[in-house]
Amino acid sequence: LGRAMGERFLQLGARVVIASRREAVLRAAADEMMAVHGGTVLPLACDVRDPDAVDAMVAAAWDHFGGVDGLVNNAAGNIASPTERLSHRAVDSVLGIVLHGSFYCTLALGKRWLATSRKGRILSIVTTYAEGGSAFVVPSAAAKAGVLAMTRSLAVEWGPRGITCNAIAPGPFPTKGAWDRLLPDPGMLDAAIDRIPMRRPGELIELADLAAFLMSDLSLYIN
Ligand code: HXC
Repeated sequence: LGRAMGERFLQLGARVVIASRREAVLRAAADEMMAVHGGTVLPLACDVRDPDAVDAMVAAAWDHFGGVDGLVNNAAGNIASPTERLSHRAVDSVLGIVLHGSFYCTLALGKRWLATSRKGRILSIVTTYAEGGSAFVVPSAAAKAGVLAMTRSLAVEWGPRGITCNAIAPGPFPTKGAWDRLLPDPGMLDAAIDRIPMRRPGELIELADLAAFLMSDLSLYIN
């Protein structure tokens, strides 16, 4: 999902920073994205569970471009499992990536925007179950609910100071990595699609276009 959003931002003329843990994977992705779309993609390796690594990543992005205008909190981890089988480290892993990671990135950029009176846009990718919870993905549901609460709270706290906070809760947008893990049985995707009025999963470009709208000046009053 992050790749699709990043490519759409790039097509529309944004300069894009991409961040994840594995430097070689990131560098290859940046090269492929620039080869197809042109423009600038800066890959910065960062584990969002580590607040010092997040600060360093944000500082490097800020220094490289002379400022940053927007943040997409997309990094996520999830474990599909009966909850009683999870160790506390498994819980920490998902909460660390989803809740703490989104918070650290939001804080690192928010502090810089407020200190420099610069406007900023924050978009967090949550999930349809952030609102109502979901069995068998409980750490993810709890963490995404936290990210949604952070979004709504900061929209009020930082909105008056020029920082908007929004979230998208995608339904099924099949991608290999997540879907092989989360929906190992093909019947599970059919069941999910049955509950969607349009009776089909989302296409990546449909998420990317909404994300681009919410990061752009076309949606400045959406907070
Ligand atoms: C039980 C598990 C486990 C599993 C890991 N652990 N996988 N426990 N079942 N399947 C436990 C480990 O045993 C360990 O605990 C602890 O979790 C940490 O494991 P690590 O190997 O150190 O992994 P780590 O680097 O922390 O990453 C774990 C992970 C990773 C986050 C689950 O595997 C991952 O990134 N998965 C894929 C990411 C993903 O699916 N992203 C898309 C999310 S989609 P112990 O006690 O043994 O040390 C999403 C939106 C939902 O979030 C929308 C759905 C519709």
